[in-house]
Amino acid sequence: MDSNKQIDLNIVIVDDIPENLQLLSNFLKNTGYRVRPFTKGSLALNAIEKETTNLILLDVNMPEMNGYDFCAIVKENPKTKHIPIIFISALTETFDKVKAFKAGGVDYITKPFQYEEVLARVKTHLSLFEIQEEIKAQNKNLTDTLARLKEAQQQLVQSEKMASLGVLTAGIAHEINNPINYISTSSQALLKVERKIRNLCSNNANFNNENKKQIDDLLIDFSELTSNVIVGVDKITKILHGLRIFSRMDVSAKHPFDIKEIIESALVILHNQYKNKITIETDFQKVSVINGYSSKISQAFINFIKNAIDAIDAKIEKSNMETIHIQLFEENNTIVVKISDTGIGMNSHDLNHIFEPFYTTKPVGKGTGLGLSISLGIIEEHNGTIEAKSTQGKGSEFIIKIPITTKNKDYEA
Ligand SMILES: Nc1ncnc2c1ncn2[C@@H]1O[C@H](COP(=O)(O)OP(=O)(O)OP(=O)(O)O)[C@@H](O)[C@H]1O
Ligand SMILES: [Mg+2]
Repeated sequence: MDSNKQIDLNIVIVDDIPENLQLLSNFLKNTGYRVRPFTKGSLALNAIEKETTNLILLDVNMPEMNGYDFCAIVKENPKTKHIPIIFISALTETFDKVKAFKAGGVDYITKPFQYEEVLARVKTHLSLFEIQEEIKAQNKNLTDTLARLKEAQQQLVQSEKMASLGVLTAGIAHEINNPINYISTSSQALLKVERKIRNLCSNNANFNNENKKQIDDLLIDFSELTSNVIVGVDKITKILHGLRIFSRMDVSAKHPFDIKEIIESALVILHNQYKNKITIETDFQKVSVINGYSSKISQAFINFIKNAIDAIDAKIEKSNMETIHIQLFEENNTIVVKISDTGIGMNSHDLNHIFEPFYTTKPVGKGTGLGLSISLGIIEEHNGTIEAKSTQGKGSEFIIKIPITTKNKDYEA
């Protein structure tokens, strides 16, 4: 232990006999330690609560509060329990060593003092204390690193899942695209055929009025059915468009993208989970493109919307007015997305913890509690912010802001 280090080490001595106190105090001060002497246990207790103390030298027999009781109080207080205590006892006194160790003492020295021995014991316990503190700090470091590793691993798993989902969707979208194209072209052609048949019939002198009425009725059905096919095909085409945007997202490189398309594709992906029970209201304004990782941003928005769906699903009494409202606009060079829902909402305790990894209020197997911590990481990676507001029983609102850098502006169409 070098002498500079000793000056940083605080020793408290408690002894009701001032002469003893002075003797020991002077000796340790001269050796280079910082010493605070006390004749009363109560005063010493006060002092060690307020100022860092590395070691206590404690007399056993004191009138007001004896050493064992003092030691027990120090060991019960979470703020002071780590401080090592060495008991001081006179050879002539009765000193119960077992009781001293049981109370939490680490060692004892006897009066009259043999200074070499006092110093050796003080040094030993101070270094032990330092080593313990070091181990504690290393332990905390390890625990923090482990938590970060766990989070990173979950993020990797999540990204991997998204990437393979992307490949899968790209394949499906590609396969469906061709048949949909010819169904679409053929149904448009069918409508033309229907018009031609109608003309032929009305111009054909061989058909009587009864024949014409029958053919007319059949053609009305025909045209209605064809229109239905066209509406269906239109819907599938939109879904395919959404899926293609989702799958086109490149995980590894930053690129310019339109956040409106990302949100629309998230809505397509989640359609099955909200259809027929939740109204999705969108208010999308045209905004600048962002330069970033569209797959990650998509992952974040899927989670925000999925959370909103879950919050509405969790309501015991649902009305037919359950709504998720998504607003997109640009303000002061920043893209703003507001997602509000009429779900169960959150209390202030939950609201304070939702961005912590593994924090979830969902039943086991339903949520990992990683969604928002990953989403926050993603939005922050794009220099953005997330603000969450909620009223229990009424609903929640998430406000996501992502700045458009001048560089992003270069990509604008
Ligand atoms: N829109 C919301 N309404 C009410 N509570 C919400 C909403 N969004 C998030 N929460 C609360 O925040 C918690 C954490 O959300 P987060 O997305 O991080 O994890 P999760 O949804 O529980 O699980 P995961 O996303 O990993 O499947 C949720 O369990 C829920 O309690
Ligand atoms: Mg979630």
